[in-house]
Amino acid sequence: MLPAVLLLAGLFLLFHTTPGAPTAGKPITCEAGAFHIGEPASIDCNFRTNITASKRDISITWYTSEVDRGKDVLWCHWSVETKKHVCKIEMANYTFDGVFTEHLTIKIPAVTTEHGGWYKCFFIASDEIKAHPCELRLQAELISAKTGKNLLM
Ligand SMILES: *[C@@H]1O[C@H](CO)[C@@H](O)[C@H](O)[C@H]1NC(C)=O
Ligand SMILES: *[C@@H]1O[C@H](CO)[C@@H](O)[C@H](O)[C@H]1NC(C)=O
Repeated sequence: MLPAVLLLAGLFLLFHTTPGAPTAGKPITCEAGAFHIGEPASIDCNFRTNITASKRDISITWYTSEVDRGKDVLWCHWSVETKKHVCKIEMANYTFDGVFTEHLTIKIPAVTTEHGGWYKCFFIASDEIKAHPCELRLQAELISAKTGKNLLM
C-alpha cells in the first residue's frame, strides 16, 4: 500500500529569480539548480562585471521570509591595503571556492531543509551606487502520493 504522503526526499525548486538593478546596464543574476536532500548544490551570483575590478564589498545573504532582516552567508570586503577581496563564510554548511570572475559561487556540501529560503546577491551600497540585489527563492516540496500535489503550497 502506498503511503498517503510521500516526502520526495525534500526536493527544492527554484521558485523564482529576480534580476537585480543594472550595473553598467547589465543586471545581476542568481542561479541555482534543483536541491536534493543530502546532495551537493550550489548558488551562483553573476555580477556581470569583473568583481575584483569593481573594488566593492559583496554579500550573499539568506532570508527565511520576505520580512526577515537576513543573514549573510558570504561576505567579501574589499581591502584597500592589499587590493584584494577578503571573504568570509558566515554560516555553517556553506563553502566558497574562492574563485573571483564575474561570478561568485557558494556551495552546499549536503542540502538540508534548513537551506530553503531566499538568497540575494549584493554589491554593497556606496555613495554613488545603491545595493543591487538579485534574488532567488528555494522552497521545499511535500508531494502527496495520492494526488501528486504539493502539500506545502
Ligand atoms: C579583473 O580585474 C583585475 C583588477 O583590475 C585584474 O587584475 C584581472 O585580470 C581582471 N580579470 C579578468 C578576468 O579580466
Ligand atoms: C550542518 O550540517 C550538519 C550535517 O548535515 C547538520 O547536522 C547541522 O545541523 C547543520 N548545521 C546548520 C547550522 O545548518
